[in-house]
Amino acid sequence: MINSRLKQSNKRIFSGIQPTGNLHLGNYLGAIKNWVNLQGDIFSIFSIVDLHAITVPQEPSQLKSSTHEVTAAIIASGIDPKSAIVFNQSSVKEHAELAWIFNCVCRIGWLNRMTQFKEKAGKNREKATVGLYGYPVLMAADILLYKATHVPVGDDQKQHIELARDIASSFNNMFAHDDQKDFFSLPEPQILGQATRVMSLRDGTKKMSKSDFSDFSRINLTDNKDDIVKKIKKAKTDAFPIPESETELSSRLEAQNLINIYAGFEEKSPQVVLDEYSGKGFADFKKDLTEILIEKI
Ligand code: AMP
Ligand code: TRP
Repeated sequence: MINSRLKQSNKRIFSGIQPTGNLHLGNYLGAIKNWVNLQGDIFSIFSIVDLHAITVPQEPSQLKSSTHEVTAAIIASGIDPKSAIVFNQSSVKEHAELAWIFNCVCRIGWLNRMTQFKEKAGKNREKATVGLYGYPVLMAADILLYKATHVPVGDDQKQHIELARDIASSFNNMFAHDDQKDFFSLPEPQILGQATRVMSLRDGTKKMSKSDFSDFSRINLTDNKDDIVKKIKKAKTDAFPIPESETELSSRLEAQNLINIYAGFEEKSPQVVLDEYSGKGFADFKKDLTEILIEKI
């Protein structure tokens, strides 16, 4: 039963997370932490998107246990099933049904622009499944099925939400009667916090990801104290002291990533973090960041 606490009635949140592999800091700071902050004020629906997960090969029993694990992890992070709806996507068959209807609205040209498909399919584009290609159409169905108005996600999902907007307005134009031209409202991405794109700890040009072969590239939400100490110690930085301004920081990707992670957890702006640490080396900063991570994770 959803808590009957007054929520802003004109807004509705939908977001999803795939039940694959370990959740990491990027998932937490880019998505889950914001979900936790929003759930009390806005009607919220969060889905463990198992139909999205099968766009790449999965071992069925592993998928089942990952679904339980991810659900446990988001509840442990503060999602309260009394405040928000939490469910697994495949238990509501209408996601797949609406996705089919949207397949007949979405244009191939729109999907060809999706950078995530290009990254995931890589050189094996011809061998990728049609499901992987159509993945953003299913995502549009997830959001629009509940007529969600806001979609809190990490920066990497912005393009998919723009596509959901294109699908919604195209559907409205094609099928809705004149008095229902806003049948589907256009969902807004909510890209919140200081760490909307958390990068790999080994390479500041790459997104922190579940699929990176190196476990040292990410902090998993299941990492213990020793793992966190080791990973932050090994995290790539550079030989210069911490700068004074964000402009100076912007060309030092690995340093910027660590500052943003710190800022994300402490809910401070990166500039406030720089004001605290400018002129110091990374050793002191890493010690403090490690303590914060150990405490929160
Ligand atoms: P996924 O694990 O791909 O299902 O992603 C779940 C949520 O985490 C989405 O809202 C993503 O945008 C977000 N996310 C995943 N990786 C990162 C990252 N490295 N930085 C920020 N947000 C991320
Ligand atoms: N594609 C999203 C990701 O990989 C997960 C997702 C599926 C999602 N459906 C969604 C996110 C609907 C927001 C809204 O991160």
